[in-house]
Amino acid sequence: MAGFVIAIDGPAASGKGTIAAGLGLRYGFPVLDTGLLYRAVGVTVQRGGGDPADAATAEAVARRLDPSQLEDPAFRTREAGEAASLAAAHPGVRTALRQFQQRFAQREPGAVIDGRDIGTVIAPDAPAKLFVTASPEVRAERRFKQLRGQGEQVTYDDILADIRRRDERDSARAASPLVQAADAALLDTTQMSISQAADAARRIVEEARARWEASRQG
Ligand code: CDP
Repeated sequence: MAGFVIAIDGPAASGKGTIAAGLGLRYGFPVLDTGLLYRAVGVTVQRGGGDPADAATAEAVARRLDPSQLEDPAFRTREAGEAASLAAAHPGVRTALRQFQQRFAQREPGAVIDGRDIGTVIAPDAPAKLFVTASPEVRAERRFKQLRGQGEQVTYDDILADIRRRDERDSARAASPLVQAADAALLDTTQMSISQAADAARRIVEEARARWEASRQG
């Protein structure tokens, strides 16, 4: 029997990562940011002189990826996000990364996993599922501040254009598109501060936890 899996999905810069980290601390669960897996693939392809839009190259890199090596700051840049979304559209890349993610979801006593297809494909039986979103403008503002903080020379308009393009690509692709799972709770953080969003997420997860515990005693 798997532990208590918290699956968090949503579009770019919706606040998934902050919410996931907060829930991980609260429950003492390990946290997996699956976006980093796709970012690592995209960046590694580019470092080898390849194009992340090329399926065969990206798939070969994904098969060889060492998922314990995700700490590279280069994976957190604007360019890495773009490379990730190109690489992530290839079904072979997603298949190559699936087993690692599903093993992570088996951890006891639980795990927090964020991405685009966690509640739909990676952990469809997760007892707690959140779909975190916010307006494109608010997400662009958050990402703009984050990238500026990392020292990247970007404009708000560039980032808003990136977000809209990435939303479109992630939602329109055939392989594991970004969609809200039927049983996921929707959390729109457009009007929320970080701590309000974290509180709202915690309430949703606490309810799911109570249901899960009742069903296990059942
Ligand atoms: O932080 P941000 O939301 O911008 O991106 P991320 O979560 O690091 O994901 C980067 C890209 O990887 C996304 O635009 C998706 O195309 C892809 N991705 C995915 O397809 N499936 C996941 N589980 C996670 C990320």
